[in-house]
Amino acid sequence: MKILVVGGGGREHAIIKKIKENKEVTEIFALPGNGGMAKDATCVNIGATDIPAIVDFAVKENVDYAVVAPDDPLVLGCVDELNKKGIPCFGPEAKAAIIEGSKVFSKDLMKKYGIPTATYEVFSDMEKALEYLDTAPIPTVIKADGLALGKGVIIAETREDAKQAVVEMMQEKKFGKSGDNIVIEEFLTGPEVSVLSFTDGKTVKPMISSMDHKRAGDNDTGLNTGGMGTIAPNPYYTEAVAKECMEKIFLPTIDAMNKEGRTFKGCLYFGLMITPNGPKVIEYNCRFGDPETQVVLPLLESDLLTIMQATTNGTLAETEVKFSDKNACCVVMASKGYPVSYEKGFEMTIPEEISNKVYVAGAKLDGDKLLTNGGRVLGATDIDDTLEGAIAKAYKLVENISFDNAFYRHDIGAKALKAGRK
Ligand code: AMP
Ligand code: GLY
Repeated sequence: MKILVVGGGGREHAIIKKIKENKEVTEIFALPGNGGMAKDATCVNIGATDIPAIVDFAVKENVDYAVVAPDDPLVLGCVDELNKKGIPCFGPEAKAAIIEGSKVFSKDLMKKYGIPTATYEVFSDMEKALEYLDTAPIPTVIKADGLALGKGVIIAETREDAKQAVVEMMQEKKFGKSGDNIVIEEFLTGPEVSVLSFTDGKTVKPMISSMDHKRAGDNDTGLNTGGMGTIAPNPYYTEAVAKECMEKIFLPTIDAMNKEGRTFKGCLYFGLMITPNGPKVIEYNCRFGDPETQVVLPLLESDLLTIMQATTNGTLAETEVKFSDKNACCVVMASKGYPVSYEKGFEMTIPEEISNKVYVAGAKLDGDKLLTNGGRVLGATDIDDTLEGAIAKAYKLVENISFDNAFYRHDIGAKALKAGRK
C-alpha cells in the first residue's frame, strides 16, 4: 500500500513511524515532511496547504490512503478534495474541521447541546467588546475566532490587558481575519488533560490521556509555545473522570456534530480542564496534537493504519484500539529564541542507536548532514513501567543529542509525578 501523509513536523514523524509497522505498507510519502524523517518516508516538497498540488500528487502516485495531519489543510478542505478523486483519507471534511477552525462555532455547539465549557460572549463589534470588559469578571480569556497558529488565546489578568488584546485582535488585525469575531470567556482553573480520540462518527475510542507543557520555560514560565513536552498517561485523568468525560463530553460531541450534519471522522482532540465543577472543554482540535502524538502513539499496541481505515469505513466499533499500560515522556528540544525568533542551520547529532526514539520536527538535509530548520527541532520519547523511569530515560536521550543553541525544559513530567504521588 502507498500512503501519503500531509504535514512535516514531529507529530507527522510519529504517525509515519507507527504506520510503517504495518506490513502491507510499501511506501510512505510525506508532504512536505522534513530532512529528519527522510529515512522513514519519501519527502516531497509540496506545502501542507497547497491542496491542488497535494491532490495532483496523490492521483499521479496512485496512493491508496492519505492522512491529513495538520489543522490548516483540514479546515481548507484537503480531505474533501482528495475524496472527490476517490482517495480515502484519515481526517474530517472541512464542514467538520470547523470544530477547530472556528471558536464561535465550537462554543455555540457546546452551548446548544449542553456540553460543559466556560461561559462566554461572542463579539463582532469592538466597541461592544470593550464595553463588556468594563464589568466582566477578571481574569478573563480572549480568543480569536479562527486559526491563529496556537497564539490566538490571551489570558488577561487586568481589564487594561483584556482591552489591549481586543484592540490588537479586532482593530490591528494581529491574527488577520481570525480576529474579525472574538470570544470572551470565563477563566477556568484546574489541571489540564489532553484526550485524543479516534472516531468514525458513530463510535468514539479515546486514546491514552496525556499532559502537554505549553510554556517555554521551566515551572511554566515564559511564552506559550506549540508544546515543549508531554507525558502519558495523565494522572489527573482518573477512571471516574474518564467515565464522566465519555458521558458528558465525548459522546454528546459526536452526537451534536451528527445532528448538525457535520459528522466528524478522524482524530478529535479534547483539550480539557478538570475544574472543581467537573471536566470542561477548553478547546477542540480536529487533529492529532503535537507533541501529544509523540507520547500517545508509541504506547499504541494495535495497528494504527487499521484503526485509521476503520474511522474512514465506519468500522471502528469492531476494531481493536489497545494501549500499553506503561508510561511515556517526550522532551522537545528547541532552538534558542523559540517561540519568537531563532536561528536555523545548526548541525544536529542524533546517535543511530537512539534515532528510533526521536521525532524530528524542524530539520533539513544538506548532503549527509542534518541541519536545524525550525523552532521546535525534535522530540525525544522514551517509555518505562513508571513515569519516573520514562522521564529519566527521555532526558538521557536528550543528553545524547546535540546541536548549537539547543534548549529544552528540565521539568517535563514533574507536575504529573507530584500529582501521581498524592
Ligand atoms: P489553546 O491555544 O486554545 O490551546 O489555549 C491555550 C491555553 O490557554 C490552554 O492550554 C489553557 O491553558 C489556556 N486557556 C484557554 N481557555 C481558558 C479558560 N477559559 N480558562 C483558563 N485557561 C484557559
Ligand atoms: N499541543 C497542543 C496542540 O497540538 O494543539
